[in-house]
Amino acid sequence: MKTKFAALVAAGVLISVGPAKAEDIKVGLLLPYSSVYASLGKDIEAGFRLALEHFGGDLGGNTVSIVKEDTEVKPPVGLAKAKKLVLQDKVDLMVGVVSSGVLGAIRDFVHGSKTPLIVANAGNNHMTGAKCSPYLIRVSFSNGQINRPMGPWLAKEGIKKVYVMAPDYAAGHQMIEAFRSGFEKAGGQIVGETFTPFRKTKDFAPYLTAAKATNPDAIYVFYAGGEAIGFVKQYASFGLKSSIPLYGAGFLTSPLYVHVQGEAADGVTVALHYVPTIDTPENKRFQADFMKQQGRIGSEFAVQGYDAGRMVVEAIKASGGDKAKFKDALSKVSFTGPRGPLKIDPATNNVVQNIYIYENKMQDGKIVQMIKGVSENVQDAVNGCSM
Ligand code: BEZ
Repeated sequence: MKTKFAALVAAGVLISVGPAKAEDIKVGLLLPYSSVYASLGKDIEAGFRLALEHFGGDLGGNTVSIVKEDTEVKPPVGLAKAKKLVLQDKVDLMVGVVSSGVLGAIRDFVHGSKTPLIVANAGNNHMTGAKCSPYLIRVSFSNGQINRPMGPWLAKEGIKKVYVMAPDYAAGHQMIEAFRSGFEKAGGQIVGETFTPFRKTKDFAPYLTAAKATNPDAIYVFYAGGEAIGFVKQYASFGLKSSIPLYGAGFLTSPLYVHVQGEAADGVTVALHYVPTIDTPENKRFQADFMKQQGRIGSEFAVQGYDAGRMVVEAIKASGGDKAKFKDALSKVSFTGPRGPLKIDPATNNVVQNIYIYENKMQDGKIVQMIKGVSENVQDAVNGCSM
């Protein structure tokens, strides 16, 4: 007969090896499981659990247990759920947060409660800038980091006039600003912009009409999740794909949903910190086992969860499970994962990593993401952060 402990391990609730003594590190997964970013949240969790399997085989008798909460994509909901995880469930740390808006809403609570948060998506620049905290460690990306290399890249491609679009919330504005500043410095001109109502825009046609009227050489956007699927499909069906090239932050054509976009994504060029075609043993192992478990390619969101899980495991190993030392050990972890080498900048607690520029190409009936350029070890400026 299975013990309760063994049953929990089998159900994936608890990962453990060695004698059932020592510490249980309780992780609160704070993710969207509903609304436009639901699939992103589920991918982050799948990646997190895979890392516990890959790297958590010898935790010296310590265990990791998981409690989950749904932030939706609403800042007040995210804050309420963070409070529940810390005050009621007494988690040792939280992992997650997808939306920059939700991250902004919970930052002061994370800092005040001294409960570490490993940010596994939300790119809000300020959280590793002026609003940084020793308790907030970002393993995903900052919104500036992803988009900065694209300004000079487009200018080098001979593109002079660009129209920009994004959802009207923190991430949309920050991503576009990072692109804009690099593009203008490189001599380019922004000929117009639209920030579409976040979570509410289903029909992009009126915005695409306005963009087309400015006669740009290219359109540059940030959209993710359900909005990215809708945007890319409508861009093609509106007839713009053949006349105005589309560029953006790589969440636009994430492997999580590029198969749904299909032909419409062909030719779209984007920048991101992860591409499934990275040819390294770490990435091949991740992709092979993710495919075995989930039956699909692992996305950047899954990799962020995976690297967050590895960070937890490495910190347990480094601290021997001592909870105070464990918290300090988190930001000192560095390793080479599926996306390449990764470390946390001690000046900001933001990740330092490669940014890849890739083009989506239709080959033999499916989209392949081909790397065209790499900016290595991209690191944010301190941006007002004082730890
Ligand atoms: C954000 O809100 O920071 C975000 C959401 C989805 C993808 C990338 C960034």
